[in-house]
Amino acid sequence: MTPHPFTESTEVVLEVNGTTHRLSVPARMTLLDALRDLLGLTGTKKGCDRGECGACTVHVEGQRINSCLALAAQHDGRSVTTVEGLGGRTGEHPVQQEFVAHDALQCGFCTPGQIMSATACIREGHADSPEEIREWMSGNICRCAAYPQIVSAVAAARARTERAGA
Ligand code: FES
Ligand code: FES
Repeated sequence: MTPHPFTESTEVVLEVNGTTHRLSVPARMTLLDALRDLLGLTGTKKGCDRGECGACTVHVEGQRINSCLALAAQHDGRSVTTVEGLGGRTGEHPVQQEFVAHDALQCGFCTPGQIMSATACIREGHADSPEEIREWMSGNICRCAAYPQIVSAVAAARARTERAGA
């Protein structure tokens, strides 16, 4: 039976950054709130909470999504990667390193979402030019307008990926 959206919880299993979590979540709880409030993974940011800013971008089964628009219960059994797990056991991901190297942030609030989106953008093959990066990263808003540095960082990470033959 479908749980009542306001009063009932449902059990979900999420694999987050390689660790399996069994959670009891209210039926209307977003994936963003589950990550932040139940798992303490506050790297994923809540900006607009309505799909407009990209601050909440995570990967589900390798695909980037706005976690504020997804219900946690919808993703039962799926694999989620947040900015905390992006680098894996090796430490910082090349995209994270290039954001630092290119000073691609000011306040940093949008940065986790930018990095998660950029990683997917490169993997999708949508980062072959500055124009393409701007277009395919257009769902990630930066109120500090660090866009030139962000584009440079993504282009550099894309070039590293190419050199590595990935
Ligand atoms: Fe999800 Fe803005 S917080 S898109
Ligand atoms: Fe401040 Fe992007 S660095 S919002």
